[in-house]
Amino acid sequence: MNGIRILALAGASLLLAAPAGAQGPAPKAAGIESDDYVWNAEAGEKMEALDLKGDVENGEEAYEICSACHLPSGAGRPDGTFPQLAGQHSTVLIKQIADIRGGLRDNPIMYPFAITLIDPQELADVSAYIQTLPIPTDNGKGSGKDLARGKKLYDDHCVSCHGQYGEGDEKKFYPVLAGQHYKYMLRQIEDIQTGRRRNANPDMVKVVQDFTPEDLDAVVDYMSRLQWPQRQAGR
Ligand code: HEC
Ligand code: HEC
Repeated sequence: MNGIRILALAGASLLLAAPAGAQGPAPKAAGIESDDYVWNAEAGEKMEALDLKGDVENGEEAYEICSACHLPSGAGRPDGTFPQLAGQHSTVLIKQIADIRGGLRDNPIMYPFAITLIDPQELADVSAYIQTLPIPTDNGKGSGKDLARGKKLYDDHCVSCHGQYGEGDEKKFYPVLAGQHYKYMLRQIEDIQTGRRRNANPDMVKVVQDFTPEDLDAVVDYMSRLQWPQRQAGR
């Protein structure tokens, strides 16, 4: 374990505070707010990590620091503060972590910990490890009051990318949504609608642009109940 990681681990488990001395301010890269934005541009450490074979054992060690927030199981928290990660496609994990490290997705809480991954190999390792964790089924759900409407919206607008089980698409970098927390997903879609999530997919932005708060609640509630048995716990 390197020194930064030990420091960071102590910080994370005691206070959830930034590891002392391990970070400057997070960088800021041009994102969806800029005219020449290209989603998932083929550049940077992401491309290197995608080409490498992840070492699950080293990934498990690298994940220790992450477990302070995302939990050892990867399940995150139903209150939506920390997303569920278990069983996510390693491609999606590599992209999201690289975007956070590169300042394309703003995440000041996680940034000091994201930079404890020492190189593209370790980025591939931790992502390979997280993908092996089973997707939990006790994630946070919505109220359940408008599921028929939620299903219709999902089938009309989302299923083409996120899939009938919420399985996404590994090769296209579409995230798994099965097992994800209702509150986290609601916050993400609001951030995607308003442009706050700067690494968003422009085709998805168009789709959700005119959704009302009631639409968002219904579709996210429906999504929070999707199950993808292939990567689920207990199978
Ligand atoms: C101090 C808490 C904290 C730590 C430690 C932490 N994260 Fe996070 N992570 C977050 C938060 C908060 C978010 C969601 C931010 C948002 O709302 O956009 C997040 C988001 C993510 C996402 C995006 C998930 C998605 O569905 O898009 C990934 C992947 C991730 N973290 C991986 C990691 C890894 C790997 C580590 C360890 C190297 C780590 N995190 C350490 C707090 C943390
Ligand atoms: C054109 C394909 C496409 C469509 C259609 C689409 N999405 Fe997405 N969605 C994506 C991609 C790609 C991402 C990840 C973007 C990135 O790289 O950060 C994403 C991210 C998300 C996230 C955040 C997930 C996370 O782990 O942080 C949520 C929630 C979501 N989509 C919900 C929806 C809903 C609801 C709909 C339908 C109303 C929808 N999406 C339609 C491609 C799509």
